[in-house]
Amino acid sequence: MIQLASSASQDLFEAALRFAERQLRALIERHPDFYPMYTAGGRWRHTGEAWTHWCDGFLPGMLWIVYARQPQGSPESRWWREQAIRYSLPLEPRKLDRAVHDLGFLFMSSYYRWYGFTPDPTLKAVVVEAGRTMALRFQEKGRYLRSFVSADSLFIDIMMNVGIVFFAARETGDRALLDIALHHCHTTRRVLVRGDGSTAHEGLFDPETGEFLKQTTHQGYRGDSCWSRGLAWALYGFGTAYSFARDPALLSTAEACADFYIRHTPPDGVPPWDYDAPPETRGLADTSAAAIAASGLFQLSSLLVDAAKGHLYRETARHILATLCRDWLGESDSQWEGILKGGVYHIHKNLGVNESVMWGEYFFLEALDLVCAGPWC
Ligand code: GLY
Repeated sequence: MIQLASSASQDLFEAALRFAERQLRALIERHPDFYPMYTAGGRWRHTGEAWTHWCDGFLPGMLWIVYARQPQGSPESRWWREQAIRYSLPLEPRKLDRAVHDLGFLFMSSYYRWYGFTPDPTLKAVVVEAGRTMALRFQEKGRYLRSFVSADSLFIDIMMNVGIVFFAARETGDRALLDIALHHCHTTRRVLVRGDGSTAHEGLFDPETGEFLKQTTHQGYRGDSCWSRGLAWALYGFGTAYSFARDPALLSTAEACADFYIRHTPPDGVPPWDYDAPPETRGLADTSAAAIAASGLFQLSSLLVDAAKGHLYRETARHILATLCRDWLGESDSQWEGILKGGVYHIHKNLGVNESVMWGEYFFLEALDLVCAGPWC
């Protein structure tokens, strides 16, 4: 169970943000036009495989966050904006990418943020097109957006990507897109979120009938375990879905996942890579799950009407961030190229284990930005 300590000082968060900016600047100066995924021994450039290409939005997303923090009209502001555009632009063709289920990760972090600063309809059109492409993954039988693995497979991670379908539906008024997004959320809720608020990574269906067959996993310990990053994706993703659809069932699902996170995570707020990990790897944390949960808890706190619960989620998010800033920054190692140590990508393939991972960097920065500049500072 997470134990809230006395409130962390803002200085800790501000210092971590400044470190993140330095690491980002060093990354794009050292490895120009490179989109990293995870470090090996603390270094971004290596020959490790990708498994799937889902991370290219996180670097431009971070550049947009840093850009927004600069004094308006300053040379720094111009420089960060140029970099953010430079790293966003090459993503555009991927609005038609049907090979991955990650178009939300790719475009809500990059083009959607860009559109937020520059209300240019051509930027919005890119996000809408990506949302339409994402919707093509819909399986009528079973009523879910299929994973990149196969047509019979549903991943919990897709809850972080269904938001772009909701966005496309809202911006175009296309009712069919809205129905697809809602069906996906309700199927995920039914088959991947358990009664105690824990989550399964993957669900398999009979493609002929749409019958749900079983819970399984790729990156978690096993089908009936709770992979901590999957739980964090659900906590955040159901909150985002609720923010678009205002369906109370989606909010209560997000709360159930958040409550599981709070009840089952160690006192410092950083979970093991899987809540049911065997003794050999039980001590291996996943800081990226913690960063996603912190940002997702901030979002949830702003969606709740229950002020006491909102306060608990906000304080929990601050507590998680304080632990990450104190114990997990790459600053402790001058050779480390990442911001946040201790992420886990794919333990079974031995990819990015106890390393910096791009989604951990992105959601950590997003949460730090919220705690420093948002309504919670
Ligand atoms: N593929 C998404 C994740 O590793 O969380």
